[in-house]
Amino acid sequence: MKLSVIGCGYLGAVHAAAMASIGHEVIGVDVDERKVEALSRGEAPFFEPGLQEILTEGIASGRLRFSTDISEVRGSAVHFVGVGTPQKRDGYAADLTFVHAAFDALAPHLSAGDVVAGKSTVPVGTAASLAPRVAETGAVLVWNPEFLREGWAVQDTIDPDRLVAGVPAGEAGERAAEILREVYHPSVAKGTPFIVTDYATAELVKVSANAFLATKISFINAMAEIAEATGADVTTLADAIGHDARIGRRFLGAGIGFGGGCLPKDIRAFSARAEELGKGESVAFLREVDAINLRRRARAVEIVVEALGGAVNGARIAVLGAAFKPHSDDIRDSPALDVAVQLKGLGADVVVTDPAALANAERVHPQLSYEADRDTALTGADAVVLVTEWDEYRRQLDPIHAASLAKGRIVVDGRNCLDPAAWKAAGWEYRGMGRR
Ligand code: UDX
Repeated sequence: MKLSVIGCGYLGAVHAAAMASIGHEVIGVDVDERKVEALSRGEAPFFEPGLQEILTEGIASGRLRFSTDISEVRGSAVHFVGVGTPQKRDGYAADLTFVHAAFDALAPHLSAGDVVAGKSTVPVGTAASLAPRVAETGAVLVWNPEFLREGWAVQDTIDPDRLVAGVPAGEAGERAAEILREVYHPSVAKGTPFIVTDYATAELVKVSANAFLATKISFINAMAEIAEATGADVTTLADAIGHDARIGRRFLGAGIGFGGGCLPKDIRAFSARAEELGKGESVAFLREVDAINLRRRARAVEIVVEALGGAVNGARIAVLGAAFKPHSDDIRDSPALDVAVQLKGLGADVVVTDPAALANAERVHPQLSYEADRDTALTGADAVVLVTEWDEYRRQLDPIHAASLAKGRIVVDGRNCLDPAAWKAAGWEYRGMGRR
């Protein structure tokens, strides 16, 4: 099938390449010339495992192309819109500028029978407000939220755990859902749940899923705060409650909390939208979820300062990690960088290392020192602070080797991912988050 993808960021570029990899003919469109040039050369503009391979393959096969010219979407049966919806500069709500710009640019090129599939995460009610504009052209709007996780984006796009289509009532909506089923044929054929619903439900599935995940993380981080006050151990607690199948162990990783381009801004946009709807009270807990989350970053800084006996000014601190999570170079709202910046603000000599995110981090926080080589970053450090749980640190960093490089023996595990016994045995003073 001929498809177009408007917006080639973390979501759109992966979607375009993944759709080509399952056999579709895809044109990806973006306003950013440099991004389009890189993609056209088969270069992934950001770090995402597996993306490079499917890009190269898609371009070589002739099924995948990129352009800045929106008129090239003509003739596609489905137009996916995957532009960003960042937090507004002056508030909590989502900024829909890119969504409106994409629909404005797309509308003149739509033909009767086309399907426009919105994938961006939007406040509930957005699809209903955009639908008449699409309907004027004879095309049909569906809302088809995306649940991919960065670091697993290719796999999540090719083999999602569910597909959701919000469609208008009536025959046109049913037909559009059928077309989407064809697009996602390999997943549908293997039995992936395909849920057809209305616009509002589809939009809410996405934001409520992210709200739930954020709440789960903040719940365990709240327990970490209680553990710190009582001498309990939050990791053992998470293991124990996680055995209850109704709770489950996933997303109960206590530490410096969640960040990235999705969870933080999505829960804020959800709160803002609920308030507009007069239902702010229903999701008032999300404010608390956000507050707990931000407190954990400050707590990590406090732990480092405590461990250094207050002598943070001038102390050399090796910060392991800059990305908001491993297997990603994304530093949007990264708790890791936030901790590094706060330590720098206290006068520490901070050296940040990360296997993928240094270039992005340096662009946004030029005041920090960066070191690509992990061992060089560790050399002479008074304290080591792990803030992104890359395998390079959690599995491959031997505490005896680290001790041979660092000056001090303080390790703060902001992700509770190190083995405290092994680090202690190598002579380190180990400090976790809510861990005994
Ligand atoms: C999230 C959703 O998982 C995904 O379904 C949605 O499409 C987009 O938002 P992503 O932002 O890629 O995906 O990251 P995710 O894996 O959810 O992690 C978010 C943050 O939570 C990271 O900073 C991670 O380190 C943190 N996290 C995750 C924890 O602090 N503890 C956990 O137990 C799990």
